[in-house]
Amino acid sequence: MIRTRLTELLGIRYPVVQAAMGYVSGPRLAAATSNAGGLGQIASATMSLAELESAIAETAGRTSAPFGVNLRADASDAAERVKLIIAGRVPVASFAQAPRPELIAALRDAGVVTIASAGARRHAEKAAAWGVDAVIATGREGGGHVGSVPTSLLIPQVAAAVDIPVIAAGGFFDGRGLVAALAWGAAGIAMGTRFLLTSDSPVPDAVKQMYLKAGLAGTVVTSQIDGVPHRVLRTRMVDHIEPLRAGAETGAGAGARWLSGVRRAGGVVRSARSAAAYRELSGVSWREMVRQGRSMRQESGLSWGQVLMAANTPVLLRAAMVDGRTDLGLMSSGQVTGLIDDLPSCAQLIEAIMREAEAGLDAMATLRSVSEDLSAYPPSVPNDMKPRVHPVPAR
Ligand SMILES: Cc1cc2nc3c(=O)[nH]c(=O)nc-3n(C[C@H](O)[C@H](O)[C@H](O)COP(=O)(O)O)c2cc1C
Repeated sequence: MIRTRLTELLGIRYPVVQAAMGYVSGPRLAAATSNAGGLGQIASATMSLAELESAIAETAGRTSAPFGVNLRADASDAAERVKLIIAGRVPVASFAQAPRPELIAALRDAGVVTIASAGARRHAEKAAAWGVDAVIATGREGGGHVGSVPTSLLIPQVAAAVDIPVIAAGGFFDGRGLVAALAWGAAGIAMGTRFLLTSDSPVPDAVKQMYLKAGLAGTVVTSQIDGVPHRVLRTRMVDHIEPLRAGAETGAGAGARWLSGVRRAGGVVRSARSAAAYRELSGVSWREMVRQGRSMRQESGLSWGQVLMAANTPVLLRAAMVDGRTDLGLMSSGQVTGLIDDLPSCAQLIEAIMREAEAGLDAMATLRSVSEDLSAYPPSVPNDMKPRVHPVPAR
């Protein structure tokens, strides 16, 4: 058994957290993770209040183990979401981006454990000062929105800076990673892409196959999608929007600029079409969309085309993750997808990670006790402990 400050804080068997993923981590994945001894989390930012309420009830019906809800503190209805979490007796709440002190206080007063997310040391320090119980620090390798510091540098830095348990994220997939995270001073790991690629994840099979096929160079970080660095699978659509910025930055010639202008105009038309679809799906009024767009432009300096693209992001992500529309080309992904080629269940995955981590810790201890026998390290990992233990079923 590996017990850490995180397993104690959350009352879970293993120091393994399933990171929140919009349209992916609903009741099924969250409950499967919690039932396997980790902490499952519902991603609520892409849910309405009513959807969140029923997701909490469904998850509680599927597991008696602790689980969490991930929310955005900047959502206009964040206080109501906090009330739902408290009323539903959800044990853990995590914040997708910066938390807010009054939300942390309300959750803590009700006995809910709070976790902040950080991509940089100063964010972790600020959240710790506001009273969160733990922090998930995510390095550049991670899927979705990322900071600029790689996991191997961020985790030791954050662990040294704050007194609360640090959960390491960005690029984890096996027991060796867990041992490394513990060595850097973390109290556990969180994984997104690895949990997306399980048989318990609800993502359509065609989408999972795209991730399984991607190599280590199969993802890219782009700010062209929603104005902030976002790691996604490298697809034709992503390759199409990325060069626009590259051309602008390198001062490309007049021909290239004209071509880029034509492409951008086409992109704006497509963006406008999807923005209309988003408005219909979300029920947000045009007036509210324009208001949000104006404030995005002011805060991030995005062009209107980019603002439209940002408005599309939820539509495109949903189309891939829920409807299996790989052709639209937008799928958040960690770099680690390049090292994953199987679809275990959450239980198989977590058991394999824990066995491998325990074997790794034992083998490392021999480095000190039997210094004359250096053959003990690195340990030869028995076949059943290797990360790729669950072959992808042939189709
Ligand atoms: C498909 C996908 C969707 C994601 N959606 C969200 C989200 O809605 N909110 C959020 O805070 N993070 C989101 N993330 C980021 C994860 O919470 C986590 O930080 C990341 O997956 C960790 O890196 P890893 O994929 O290398 O494990 C998403 C990641 C992926 C892969």
